[in-house]
Formats: sequence, structure tokens, C-alpha cells
Amino acid sequence: MTTITFITGANKGLGYETARRLSDLGHQVIIGARDPERGQAAASRLGVRFVPIDVTNDVSVKKAAADIEAREGRVDVLVNNAGIIGSHAPAEELTGPDAEHVFGTNVAGIVRVTGAFLPLLRKSPAPAVINVSSGMGSQALTHDPRRVESKIAAPLYTASKAAVTMLTTQYAKAVPDVRFNAADPGYTATDLNGHNGPQTVTEGTDAIVALATEDPSAGTGRFLDRSGPVAW
Ligand SMILES: NC(=O)c1ccc[n+]([C@@H]2O[C@H](COP(=O)([O-])OP(=O)(O)OC[C@H]3O[C@@H](n4cnc5c(N)ncnc54)[C@H](OP(=O)(O)O)[C@@H]3O)[C@@H](O)[C@H]2O)c1
Repeated sequence: MTTITFITGANKGLGYETARRLSDLGHQVIIGARDPERGQAAASRLGVRFVPIDVTNDVSVKKAAADIEAREGRVDVLVNNAGIIGSHAPAEELTGPDAEHVFGTNVAGIVRVTGAFLPLLRKSPAPAVINVSSGMGSQALTHDPRRVESKIAAPLYTASKAAVTMLTTQYAKAVPDVRFNAADPGYTATDLNGHNGPQTVTEGTDAIVALATEDPSAGTGRFLDRSGPVAW
């Protein structure tokens, strides 16, 4: 049976590379993107189907789930990849709306999409959700002077990614019939960071691809990067 995989925010960056790699590996990939033109252009380049989705919008997310329900009928792997870095303002100038914007996309977006897609995931014999978190959301890595994650202060983004990792382990406990795992791509050159990350997008998607292709017995509630388990 072909694995049906839906990826949010897949018109570029890590989401696009995940779509390319999983498609090459034989998954039936559906890419989600909020901009119809960029989404369709990316899907045409990859030879996959495009479904519009803005993860901050209930109507858009429900429409995307209904579209896939009607066409494919189920989802085996959901990759909650869409995310933003948010405001670059100094910490003392960050505002409530800045926080709501980042948490609205990175955290509430995952809750919204996961809720809407759970009925479709439950039609799969081995459903899996992969949340794209970050080492920037890890207490251990952001306090380890040997790690690049300890050199950067970005209160809202890091807090949102800590929430993504906790959401993952909490959903894993609360919803035991679906596997929930979190991936840390590592610092990767994409638009998110002005292409400053040292890794290629292929390196940055190793953990996501591993989680999307591993045996279902591998487990739930884990947080992995391309080398293995990530310290919290
Ligand atoms: N790059 C890194 O070093 C790194 C490290 C750790 C974790 N991550 C995480 O990896 C994920 C992908 O990031 P990236 O580096 O590939 O960044 P990117 O190139 O900026 O891609 C982000 C994607 O998310 C989409 N997106 C943003 N808001 C959305 C919304 N409301 N609805 C739907 N899609 C939305 C973007 O769409 P538009 O094109 O329309 O903006 C884009 O497709 C993010 O969750 C990020 O936090 C990245």
C-alpha cells in the first residue's frame, strides 16, 4: 500500500525538500502551502498534488482536510512543518501581538491541523504525525556552550518550539493510536534564517525523512535530529 503523506508549508525550504525526498522514496505526497500560486508551482515541479492550507485559519485547514478526504480518503503521515521565525525586534521591544503571531503559527497551527487531520489519520493502518520542532526549543541545547543553539537569543521562536516538542509528547500520551514524534532539522540554510545555516536542506530533512519512513514499531513521543535522540 502506498504511503500517503501530507506536508504543510511545503512550497519551499525544508518542507519542499521533504516532499521531494519522500516522493522519490515512493510516498504519494500532497503538498500544502498558503499561497496558491507558489504552492501549485512547487507541486508542478515535483509532480505531486497541491492543497491550499493556511495553518492559522480554521476554515482553510478544514477545507484542506475535506479535500484530501474526498480525493485520497486517508493520510498515513502528516508532517506539521509550516513555521515562522517571527519578529527580529530586541527582546525589550517584543509585543503581545508578536508573540501571538509566532505562537499562532508554530503552536496553534499544529493543534489546528492535527485536530482536523486526526479522522483522516485514523483511516491509516499505521498513522504518524511528525512535528518539525527545533533544537532552539531545547533547554539542554540552548544551555550547552558547545552548541550553536546556545549562542542565539530569540525568546518567541525558542519558546514556541519548546511548546511544539511538549505538544508532541503530550499528544503521544493522549492519542496512543497515532504515533507523534518531533524532529529537529538542525541549523539549515533556508529563507527562515536568511540562508545562514550551515546545513543543506537535504541534511536538514534527514530526521524528518527517517521518522516518515521508519517501522511503526519505532515508537511515539520521541524528539530526534539527524544523529539520534535530542536532549530536552
Ligand atoms: N531552517 C532551520 O535552520 C530550521 C531549524 C530548525 C527548525 N526549523 C523549522 O523547520 C520548518 C520549516 O522551516 P524552513 O527553514 O524550511 O523555513 P522556510 O523556508 O521559511 O519555510 C517555511 C514554510 O512555512 C510556510 N508557512 C509559514 N506560515 C504559514 C502558514 N500560516 N500557513 C501555511 N504555511 C505557512 C511558508 O510559506 P510561505 O512561503 O507562504 O511563507 C514556507 O512554506 C519550520 O517549522 C522551522 O521552524 C528550521
